[in-house]
Amino acid sequence: MSLLLQTPRALLSRGVRRVTGAPSPLAGRVVMITGASSGIGEETALQVALRGGHVVLVARRADELERVRRAIEKAGGSASAYACDLTNGPAVDVLVAEVLDQHGAIDYLVNNAGRSIRRSLDLAYDRIHDFERTMAINYIAPVRLTMGLLPAMRAQRFGHVVNIVTWGIQIKAPRYTAYIASKAALDTWARIAGRETWADNVTFTNMRFGLVQTPMTAPTEAYAGRGETAQHAARRVVRALEDRPVVVNTTLFARVCEVANLVTPRLADHLGARGYRSSEDSSAARRHGA
Ligand SMILES: NC(=O)c1ccc[n+]([C@@H]2O[C@H](COP(=O)([O-])OP(=O)(O)OC[C@H]3O[C@@H](n4cnc5c(N)ncnc54)[C@H](OP(=O)(O)O)[C@@H]3O)[C@@H](O)[C@H]2O)c1
Repeated sequence: MSLLLQTPRALLSRGVRRVTGAPSPLAGRVVMITGASSGIGEETALQVALRGGHVVLVARRADELERVRRAIEKAGGSASAYACDLTNGPAVDVLVAEVLDQHGAIDYLVNNAGRSIRRSLDLAYDRIHDFERTMAINYIAPVRLTMGLLPAMRAQRFGHVVNIVTWGIQIKAPRYTAYIASKAALDTWARIAGRETWADNVTFTNMRFGLVQTPMTAPTEAYAGRGETAQHAARRVVRALEDRPVVVNTTLFARVCEVANLVTPRLADHLGARGYRSSEDSSAARRHGA
């Protein structure tokens, strides 16, 4: 099944790489990774650099980006760091102008920066900002950044964008209305954008991750000790950069849910409602404030 989600060219080049031991297609390329100051983004940056890509690190915390940049250089790789709040539109425009000036076209972009909110509707009636801020970082920010970088990618007739989205798009898990809807918007946007840029050899991958152990999942007690490591998740991101599949679905459970949501939607609602009633909001979600 996953073979059908890849381009014939990607399959061929992966086969050739395996047989000949040829270098990664990331070698010598410029790879921008957002949210590179921790978690999946940090690990992906390290692994891309080890394959010879020059990594452009983006996130808000300049000190953490500098820590990652130094770690990459210590490991023999090369990286540049740009501190930017991606929800600040004019700041994104400045970032785009700077990186295009300093690196030329970005060859690969990983839209990884994001935030998750797990909170029941009945704790969110007075929290419309939950919906606004997830859309701001998980949808508007990557769309604005990608739109800034696309013209140069299309002009050089090469580019690949990996969007880090979530298995929640397939599952439609209760308590995640704000988060999953914002990731689903990006997933759909990329599927359509890819059709317009296909003839220019600019492609998109949506990576629908399950649970990954990172600072993002730490506040949810129910997730303690569960999920794959950030290192493992990063290896999959690197493979998606190299092979350029349409979509990476990371768990069988999510695929089963996707089919159930399509074929037996009321049964899926019933099971989802039961799951919802038998679980709780985390103490972080119950607290008022941010
Ligand atoms: N962990 C999971 O189980 C899981 C599952 C599915 C999908 N994902 C997705 O994976 C991606 C990475 O998350 P993670 O789990 O690795 O969590 P993480 O360690 O908390 O990483 C989130 C990254 O996003 C950056 N970021 C957040 N807001 C930003 C903003 N306004 N501007 C610029 N950068 C911003 C953060 O950096 P600064 O704070 O320095 O800005 C950080 O580097 C997210 O898109 C998340 O939705 C995670």
